[in-house]
Amino acid sequence: MATLKLDKVDKIYGDVQVLHGIDLDFEGNPFIVFVGPSGCGKSTLLRSIAGLEEASGGKIFIDGKDVTDMPPVDRDVSMVFQSYALYPQMSVEENMSFGLRMAKVEKDVIEKKVSAAAKLLKLDHLLHRKPKDLSGGQRQRVAIGRSIVRNPKIFLFDEPLSNLDAELRVEMRIQIAKLHSELESTMVYVTHDQVEAMTLADQIVVLRDGRVEQVGPPMELYENPDNQFVAGFIGSPKMNFIDASIAEVNGNVASVRLPGGEIVPLTRNDAAQLSAGDEVVMGIRPEHISQTQVTDADVKVASKVDVIEVLGALSFLYCKTAELERIVVQKVGYDNTKAGDDVAMYIDPAKCHLFKKDGKVVR
Ligand SMILES: Nc1ncnc2c1ncn2[C@@H]1O[C@H](COP(=O)(O)OP(=O)(O)O)[C@@H](O)[C@H]1O
Ligand SMILES: [Mg+2]
Repeated sequence: MATLKLDKVDKIYGDVQVLHGIDLDFEGNPFIVFVGPSGCGKSTLLRSIAGLEEASGGKIFIDGKDVTDMPPVDRDVSMVFQSYALYPQMSVEENMSFGLRMAKVEKDVIEKKVSAAAKLLKLDHLLHRKPKDLSGGQRQRVAIGRSIVRNPKIFLFDEPLSNLDAELRVEMRIQIAKLHSELESTMVYVTHDQVEAMTLADQIVVLRDGRVEQVGPPMELYENPDNQFVAGFIGSPKMNFIDASIAEVNGNVASVRLPGGEIVPLTRNDAAQLSAGDEVVMGIRPEHISQTQVTDADVKVASKVDVIEVLGALSFLYCKTAELERIVVQKVGYDNTKAGDDVAMYIDPAKCHLFKKDGKVVR
């Protein structure tokens, strides 16, 4: 259990700034996930916490201690890489104990720690194998075991599951979640995969171009995104975005005119920020559009099915209207709807998100 605090952390390579004033503050033993598109600075931020990169500005605190200028070994953190970075000539046991042996820890202490970690990770029957005789998932578990034996204040993971096939990735994801609850340690996990972020995190940090877009628990980001980027990044299939305009603002109700002329009245505390004629973006998640009317307030939009994907438990209808190229509708189960069919889309105004042209949400 350790607190982690970053205060205005910058990172500049030559004349390129890749991290811009990152402020973060976590207490307890949260599972923190840094998520964002490739190149947004996730690894650089993680490596700065590890001490593998020197911050160009700002301060980093672990458990209240300023570690900004400390070398990695003194920070009490341990990192698991995507590439595993195991020693090929060493057995599982030797790989796991390497750091402790280098630190001249007593032999019986090492044995106890390795055997406890191996048991936790179900590697106890593989201790004498070499990495080449292990599967990808087993190698990744050895890499994690090497971190566990060091009993760090914070575990750092950089896309640890990216090299595994889809099935194993799901299995390892569950293992890592269990590990977090068993070890009760702070973990910081980097991924570009929003499903991993949603399923593992207590706190998600969404990064874009070296800046924090939003921090919060998964469902808060899902239901209440601060901006269009977060709204579009979290959730699959993606939230539908419709370019629209404000028809009128009356008290706290902003009436949004869709391209086909339909009016969607949205109640917003900040409605006064908007005025008639403003261009806006309305967001609606695929699961919040129904083919049948659910409430009196539902707004009906006529459309045609362009493509349909049936997954069994769910179906995705890719619909078109005269004005809208693509609106994705999710339905539970499947029926005999097919491409080319005319269908109605019922949009519940209470489920709609509203963004200004600059991407900021209007609440
Ligand atoms: N050593 C370096 N020198 C110059 N630019 C770098 C270096 N390392 C990373 N970058 C740049 O910093 C940005 C962020 O990289 P990175 O943190 O690896 O992104 P992510 O892990 O989110 O994919 C990228 O544009 C990358 O090209
Ligand atoms: Mg990376």
